[in-house]
Amino acid sequence: MTDELTPETPDEDEQPIKQRKNGLYPGVSDELAASMKTGWADTELRDLEPIEQAPNTARRREALSRRFPGERLVIPAGNLKTRSNDTEYDFRAATEYVHLTGDQTEDSVLVLEPRENGEGHDATLYRLPRSNRENGEFWLDGMGELWVGRRNSLAEAAALLGVDCADVRELAGSLREATGPVRVVRGHDAGIEAALADKVTAERDEELRVYLSEARLIKDDFEIGELQKAVDSTIRGFEDVVKVLDKAEATSERYIEGTFFLRARVEGNDVGYGSICAAGPHATTLHWVRNNGQVRSGDLLLLDAGVETNTLYTADVTRTLPINGTYTDLQRKIYDAVYEAQEAGIAAVKPGAAFRDFHDAAQRVLAEKLVEWGLVEGPVDRVLELGLQRRWTLHGTGHMLGLDVHDCAVARTETYVNGTLEAGMVLTVEPGLYFQADDLTVPEEYRGIGVRIEDDILVTEDGNRNLSAALPRRSDEVEAWMARLTRQRA
Ligand code: GLY
Ligand code: MN
Ligand code: MN
Repeated sequence: MTDELTPETPDEDEQPIKQRKNGLYPGVSDELAASMKTGWADTELRDLEPIEQAPNTARRREALSRRFPGERLVIPAGNLKTRSNDTEYDFRAATEYVHLTGDQTEDSVLVLEPRENGEGHDATLYRLPRSNRENGEFWLDGMGELWVGRRNSLAEAAALLGVDCADVRELAGSLREATGPVRVVRGHDAGIEAALADKVTAERDEELRVYLSEARLIKDDFEIGELQKAVDSTIRGFEDVVKVLDKAEATSERYIEGTFFLRARVEGNDVGYGSICAAGPHATTLHWVRNNGQVRSGDLLLLDAGVETNTLYTADVTRTLPINGTYTDLQRKIYDAVYEAQEAGIAAVKPGAAFRDFHDAAQRVLAEKLVEWGLVEGPVDRVLELGLQRRWTLHGTGHMLGLDVHDCAVARTETYVNGTLEAGMVLTVEPGLYFQADDLTVPEEYRGIGVRIEDDILVTEDGNRNLSAALPRRSDEVEAWMARLTRQRA
């Protein structure tokens, strides 16, 4: 779609509006301009209830305030990224911003300003207000509401989010003039970073980013509820895929990707990461997202996909399915080994355990199997010590999950990888075995087989809860589940 109307180039002083490109009709008559100013109803929304997570985001801002007393803290949502001309990529707000506000609006910036009395901060959310109709912004600006849809007014946003709101167009100027220590979350808003360029240091900004990453390690009840919703939608997406495997065989892996995406987009915001729809030997490529390969009866399908909810929490689930509904003997042997490793990994997830424990438990099982099958020379302890199993296990056994699929990724080693599990953490347990198609060190029949099983596990006070337990996992249960779903095909 291109614009239907574009005015003559305005006098910049009179009309500081970013013009949309690609207009078809130059010129706007005075009569039309006057007409567009008036005749619009007052649509202000009143008596709005705060969003459900508003008390949670307020608590997070208070904790942030306590960690950085006396400092101005700037947390941008990010900007739209141009795809071409006046077309933008889909926008996804920065995770740090979402966690502290519950909001997802582009160009917005959360600022915590230290109070003059030295006690705490005042939080202000800077954002674009409703479009001005008097100066034509409403219909002549590329970001005018006529083009992009109605925005919340500042008062509406304040009521919904429980934070004072102000016009973001004034923010860069006031940050330029501000004095005192300041930190910004980098990488999301170049304009805001430019305004702060001579006031911030990379090291201090990184401390803020690390704090915000660690602040997401423990999920509250709202977040756990959202993650469960994400998982539940994901399970329905996996069911959708099984029902159309015949259509995927007739087309390509893209049919699987599109089918899962439909579920993600209808029930949630999006997929939380590019779906890995890897049939046959593609399953041995860890980040196979091209999804343009053939889907063949007799092969396995490794489907690694997650729905992201409308609040932006994502699931991350993998099942490796026999495309024709029944594992071959060798596929089953490999699958059952990975299942056993996953069982050992999940059993090691409990409060007080080291984060590394579940990885070590799963790796030990896989190493035992590789030795038992004669693929690597034992004993198992030697294999583990030298890491020889890693030729086929390839990756770590899991990671934190939340707003990001690889959540809390910049947390310090001592709080995450070398840290201890605590109730409220949510992580994946996802061992795998991958025999590359060109791996001459394994018998030919193994080559091109890749298996991963991935579930989303909540650490509870007394152990763990598998949020994705409703999706069958044991090989015989997977086959029975697929048989039931394929019988339901129209
Ligand atoms: N889907 C990415 C991962 O499993 O980590
Ligand atoms: Mn995954
Ligand atoms: Mn994962």
